[in-house]
Amino acid sequence: MSAGQADIGVLGLGTMGAMLALNLAEKGFDTALFNRTVEKAGKLRDDNADLAHKLHPQPTVEAFIAALKAPRVIILMVNAGKAVDDQLEALLPLLEQGDIVIDAGNTDFNDTVVRSRRCEGTGIHFVGMGVSGGELGARHGPSIMVGGDPEVWQRLRPLLEPIAAKYQGSPCVAWLGADGAGHFVKTIHNGIEYADMQMIAEVYGIMRDGLGLAAADMAKIFADWNTRGLSSYLIEISAAVLAEPDPATGKAMVDVIIDEAGQKGTGRWSVIEAQKLGIGATTLEAAVAARGVSSLRQERKDAEAVYGDLASNGFDFAGDAPSIAELEAALETAKIIAYAQGYAIMAAASREYGWNLPLGEIARIWRSGCIIRSVFLQDITKAYETNGEVVNLLQQPSFSARVTAGQGALRSVVRKAVAGGIPVPALSAALAYFDDYRRSRGTANLIQAQRDLFGAHTFRRLDQDGVHHHQWPAV
Ligand code: 6PG
Repeated sequence: MSAGQADIGVLGLGTMGAMLALNLAEKGFDTALFNRTVEKAGKLRDDNADLAHKLHPQPTVEAFIAALKAPRVIILMVNAGKAVDDQLEALLPLLEQGDIVIDAGNTDFNDTVVRSRRCEGTGIHFVGMGVSGGELGARHGPSIMVGGDPEVWQRLRPLLEPIAAKYQGSPCVAWLGADGAGHFVKTIHNGIEYADMQMIAEVYGIMRDGLGLAAADMAKIFADWNTRGLSSYLIEISAAVLAEPDPATGKAMVDVIIDEAGQKGTGRWSVIEAQKLGIGATTLEAAVAARGVSSLRQERKDAEAVYGDLASNGFDFAGDAPSIAELEAALETAKIIAYAQGYAIMAAASREYGWNLPLGEIARIWRSGCIIRSVFLQDITKAYETNGEVVNLLQQPSFSARVTAGQGALRSVVRKAVAGGIPVPALSAALAYFDDYRRSRGTANLIQAQRDLFGAHTFRRLDQDGVHHHQWPAV
């Protein structure tokens, strides 16, 4: 390939960058490569002989830029944060009017908004793009959430549609809104991912600690659940993980893994953004908090020494154990509530930031490629296709029928887990949120009265218009 011929450049060849580059090359795009450790780019080409003719490693950033067809398209796949700023600043003086820089990392959307502004007036377009699906997704078809200028999206479409996951032939990539919209939606995707994983882990905890099931038995249960309503990537991998033996000990692999969950920040951001928008995302919050508690391993051991374990406290299901069918229905119901919360955050952000987020389109591009892909997302897509405007998923007939049918199971599982001393923070948060959301007369009238008493914050009345203050007795 001679200079100025590459269709696209990938800068940053860590796992995700390398996989995206291979995906692009496989779809026939001449892909220029650059990495700070220059040898990595050459190695990527050498290790992939079948795609070598489409991979073009470059020794310097200048050569990388010169290798690209103008106007250029560059995908940055570097660590979120300072590395993105550093690369952007290094690239800007070398680029020309009309060039596009895409940040495809797990970036905080607030940073994307700032970087978009930074590029305004330079003639260079900055695009924040969420990519989900992990390593395999990046290689064979991720779900791609694009933000930025809609005209720039039209230019990117022919490059991104071929590399995106397909759901029944339809590419899982869409433009979602200006500046930070793509990264915001990816953040909420991850918040939902956290909630989904936490609820699965809670049900696993009930089966392991309450029902005494072995990993291999649970693998079969998850595999069975994966054939129906809960069918999803996360349930599928749960079954696969639970079935896996440890080659070193012969035990179940999952039984030798330390119970401390890592986190890189996106789940936490989703909760922070929900709070800023005043949206109750209690299942996401519970999931983030539970990861925090999981990391306190020594403290948890010490606490168990203080309070005793479940058995020594006499906690058990005492002949009132939840059935496997009940657990399945509870998980499915709680999952609907978690997704309703995630969608409520996006709806609020859409209003707040003027993005006009296409919520149905988001469900559509999450149906394949991403970590939370599931049969259930097809149901959300349908709900939006059928109804257009959706106030809240919990009020959609297709979901309200399922929640009505499943709430008994959720209630029962939470009740039994609480009585048995097994923590179910996300499942119980889902239930509490649902019970709060579905009642027309809540209890905030008392809070309003208290606020008015101690701070003259005023309240509104059921029987009169306007804002009122009451002369409360001095306390
Ligand atoms: C995805 C994943 C991906 C990644 C997260 C996991 O959509 O492909 O969400 O972005 O696996 O980094 O996040 P934690 O490390 O915080 O669990």
